[in-house]
Amino acid sequence: PRRYRVHHLRDFKNRGEKWAMLTAYDQYTAEIFDQAGIPVLLVGDSAANNVYGYDTTLRVTVDELIPLARAVANAAQRALVVADLPFGSYQASPEQAFHTAVRFMKEAGVQAVKLEGGRTVVPMVEKLTQSGIPVMAHIGFTPQSEHSIGGYRVQGRGEQAAGLIDDAVALAAAGAFSLVLEMVPGDVAAEITKRIPIPTIGIGAGRDTDAQVLVWQDMAGLRSGTMPRFVKQYADLRGILTSAATSYAAEVANGAFPADEHTF
Ligand code: KIV
Ligand code: NA
Repeated sequence: PRRYRVHHLRDFKNRGEKWAMLTAYDQYTAEIFDQAGIPVLLVGDSAANNVYGYDTTLRVTVDELIPLARAVANAAQRALVVADLPFGSYQASPEQAFHTAVRFMKEAGVQAVKLEGGRTVVPMVEKLTQSGIPVMAHIGFTPQSEHSIGGYRVQGRGEQAAGLIDDAVALAAAGAFSLVLEMVPGDVAAEITKRIPIPTIGIGAGRDTDAQVLVWQDMAGLRSGTMPRFVKQYADLRGILTSAATSYAAEVANGAFPADEHTF
C-alpha cells in the first residue's frame, strides 16, 4: 500500500501475518524504519527516557512530545504514525483526551494515538474513535502507572488474567484498532490474541501476539545499562558511535583530519 492504514493491520491478523512496530522520535530513524518496511511507528512517551534523559515516562509533556511526533510524521512515507498521549493528558475526561489527541493530529500530523489503561479508559477510547481518531490501547504493565503498580512487574499472572482479558475485550468493543500487551505471561497474551478481532502487539508478551514492538534504542543497542529480558539487541550502535567519535577526536588531535581533500 501507499500508506499503511488500520484496515491493513486487520488484514494482517486475518491472514496470520506477523509484523513489527518500532518507536521513532526523529527524522532519520523514521525514514530508515519506514524504508525498512516497518508498517507502524510509535512516537512513544518513552521519549522521556530515550530522548529527554528523564528517569521516568511520567515526566514527558504534550509540548515536548508533539515536535518529535511532527518530525516522525514528516519523514514517514508509508508507515502509520502513532503518538502516545502522555501521562495526565487524557485521564481526566473523554473531552481532555479528545483535545490532546486533536493537538497531535493537527500540530504533529500523526494518524493515530495510543493511551494506557483497561476498562477505565473505555469512555476515552469511545470518544476518540467516534471522532474519527484511531486509538491504540495498551494494557498489562503500563509505565504511566509505574508508581501505583509498584515498579516494572509482569501483569496478568494467575487470578489477574481474567481481569486483563476483560479489559482487552472491552477496549476492542470500544473501538480500539489495536492493543499493546506489555509484560504479560505468554499464555495470557495468546488467549487475548485469540479472543479479540483487533491486532495485539506484544512487548515482553511472548511469541503468540499478532505483532511485536521494541524501543529502537534497545533493539539497536544504543542505550546503556542493563536491558530488560524481553529485548533482543540486533546491532551495537553504541559501540559503532563510540568508535566513530574516538577515531574522529584522535585524528583531529594527530592532524590526520582534515586532510587536503577536506580543505578548500
Ligand atoms: O512508549 C513506548 O515506547 C511504548 C511502547 C514500548 C509500547 O509505549
Ligand atoms: Na508508551
